[in-house]
Amino acid sequence: MEQRRPEEGIEHCPVLADEALTGLNAQPGGCFIDGTVGGGGHTQLLLRRTSSADGAGNGRVLGLDADPEAVERVRRRFPEEINTGRLRLVHTPFDQMARVAGQQGFAAVDGILLDLGLSSYQLDTPARGFAFQHDGPLDMRFDPSAGESAAGLINGRRREEIADILYRYGEERQSRAIARAIVANRPVMTTAELAEIVAKVVGRRGRQKIHPATRTFQALRIAVNDELGQLERTLAQIPGLLRAGGRVAIIAFHSLEDRLVKRWMRDQSRRFRPDPTLPSGGLEQVPVLSIYNRKPIVPAAAEVERNPRSRSAKLRIAEKRDGR
Ligand SMILES: C[S@@+](CC[C@H](N)C(=O)[O-])C[C@H]1O[C@@H](n2cnc3c(N)ncnc32)[C@H](O)[C@@H]1O
Repeated sequence: MEQRRPEEGIEHCPVLADEALTGLNAQPGGCFIDGTVGGGGHTQLLLRRTSSADGAGNGRVLGLDADPEAVERVRRRFPEEINTGRLRLVHTPFDQMARVAGQQGFAAVDGILLDLGLSSYQLDTPARGFAFQHDGPLDMRFDPSAGESAAGLINGRRREEIADILYRYGEERQSRAIARAIVANRPVMTTAELAEIVAKVVGRRGRQKIHPATRTFQALRIAVNDELGQLERTLAQIPGLLRAGGRVAIIAFHSLEDRLVKRWMRDQSRRFRPDPTLPSGGLEQVPVLSIYNRKPIVPAAAEVERNPRSRSAKLRIAEKRDGR
């Protein structure tokens, strides 16, 4: 009997798909980097939009993901595109984008997409330890073969460090009380144990819309995967990877990431960079990007209804200027 793969039946609907693909201006023959292939939803659309009528002028996509399972799944999903060289897949964190793109022959691309955070596969697979809704080992690593798991973090760090993580990355106002309760209950090894500890401190769901452990789980996931560090290092590489007129589209799911993207786009598109430490008040600079949308693009009500996980998504797009 054929064995059912654990991810079968879990669908990943690409969020803001049309808006992102249109924003990227994906055209037949185009060359794109999808830094977060996940379930391959956006990758599939990029492959479709870059295909040419006769097949001779087809475009190419380089897909990256830190999660080896995601890369394998997408490999199985697009055998033909891989065989023909239209799709290259590399298991890597996206902060290695410039190096990997160089190795794979993707220089001066037409567009780069980052759809940040975690996929439905990861969230809905208890063994990955991302969700308080399912019991599983407290892992939360995008790449389970690298770095410290969430259990390692909360069982090994000092109480103050845990509280700082919950406050900084989860904007959790009860961070100190939660950290104290975690330390008092160590070792904490499963998602259910952690969710229970947090619920006891924060209180059960009352009038609040979100589960009491939502902010704690978000904070730990961000810390375990160094999500803000990864994003910052990758943003710095993006202008050098785009051709003039090429676009970058970034979908963020929480305010810390979105703020980082917004500031980066603003700084890269300025003619004058304020710096109060300089007598002139700042420096003239050649702007590298043009912002495509001042306000973030958010999903329409119909998308949120179809896919409630899209509700916090914010899409920002910018275009590389002609440097001449
Ligand atoms: C929201 S999902 C992407 C879904 C995808 N766009 C689709 O349509 O199926 C985010 C993916 O990004 C990956 N990811 C998150 N941070 C990463 C990083 N720093 N480097 C590489 N991949 C990362 C996760 O493993 C996850 O598979």
